[in-house]
Amino acid sequence: MLLNGNGSANGNGGANGNGNGGNGHEDGRRVTFGRAGRILITGGAGFIGSHLAERLLAMGSTVTAVDDLSTGRFENIAHLAERPEFRFVHETVMNESVMDRLVCESDMIYHLAAAVGVNLIIKSPVQTIETNVLGTEAVLRLARRYRRKVLIASTSEVYGKSDNHPYQEDDDRVLGPTARSRWAYAESKALDEFLALAYHKEYRVPVVIARLFNTVGPRQTGAYGMVIPRLVKQAVAGEPLTVYADGRQSRCFCDVRDVVRALTGLAESADAEGEILNVGSEQEITILELARRIIGLAESGSRIEFVPYQTAYDSDFEDMRRRVPNTGKIRRTLGWAPRISLDDTLREVIAEFTAKAAGAPAAGARKIAAARVIPA
Ligand SMILES: NC(=O)c1ccc[n+]([C@@H]2O[C@H](COP(=O)([O-])OP(=O)(O)OC[C@H]3O[C@@H](n4cnc5c(N)ncnc54)[C@H](O)[C@@H]3O)[C@@H](O)[C@H]2O)c1
Repeated sequence: MLLNGNGSANGNGGANGNGNGGNGHEDGRRVTFGRAGRILITGGAGFIGSHLAERLLAMGSTVTAVDDLSTGRFENIAHLAERPEFRFVHETVMNESVMDRLVCESDMIYHLAAAVGVNLIIKSPVQTIETNVLGTEAVLRLARRYRRKVLIASTSEVYGKSDNHPYQEDDDRVLGPTARSRWAYAESKALDEFLALAYHKEYRVPVVIARLFNTVGPRQTGAYGMVIPRLVKQAVAGEPLTVYADGRQSRCFCDVRDVVRALTGLAESADAEGEILNVGSEQEITILELARRIIGLAESGSRIEFVPYQTAYDSDFEDMRRRVPNTGKIRRTLGWAPRISLDDTLREVIAEFTAKAAGAPAAGARKIAAARVIPA
């Protein structure tokens, strides 16, 4: 079902509560939030949000996705749009009257809406700060009003450029100067964490903070600087894979299906309430090795081209050499660990980009035309 910001539908059926479909966790851990229920996902048409919506629907929830489609795409959720237990609201989280109604009608909120990606942050620092700070503040205020639980999607960026690997949740943070706009993302997300913890402490709003490390998989776009879709697109097109600096900087990539399994587990867990937990893979790979692996798996004839950061970004761009999580806390809390290998994820992303390059119409493109999304 599709709604505009005023809540008038061009489908039928509201997001009616269907009760809790079982409160027990598979391994007997304490659970506060039932498996089914009425769920609001902000940023629900985004990369992670769309996979989360799929998982929650499979768990028996009704799902409302609110998204302004700034970096998200309707195609990501087009395959869900006709399901009566799913609705899409094309609106910004800054619209407080719409958000008031959506939060009131929900049992729980996954707050994923944010200005995301290094390119976007450097290009639009005002939008980054305002969306990430004011949007989160609005969600928390409404969650307090209606006593709803909120999961906040934070980021490994909050650790900044600390060399103290692997990063643990209560580590000190090392950030660059405010004059460098790339740090605005880390700081705005850190402020979200402070706010969420403050609402929890002062007003007893049930919150949980997931610090996501690099999350990858189908539907991720390279348009905002994400490395895997960017390199895969180049490999599939037979173009040089552009690796920044010497390529020895490393990252840990976790499949989005593993990440959303962690998010729903955290939302259900009583032990995670009021806590910050790292979510990611501990398997480290250099960007150069990643590029070579993509070329191999894609059976591409592309070569690798090294590009200085200063060419790709501003002259004062700073990057982290490594970013490795310690995931002991979420392992202890949920028994969670990633299950999908990087190679399996890469194969899927390569298949997705190969199909696109061959001119296969995006499934959502046809439906978007048929459904005619009502603009906010
Ligand atoms: N993908 C990663 O590797 C990663 C890593 C760390 C943290 N995160 C966090 O996970 C969340 C989801 O990120 P993603 O990777 O899916 O990116 P994404 O860009 O696909 O998702 C963000 C979504 O929020 C929407 N949005 C932005 N501003 C909005 C607003 N004002 N109102 C309503 N919707 C708005 C966008 O249109 C988009 O659909 C973000 O909070 C991000 O900070 C992602």
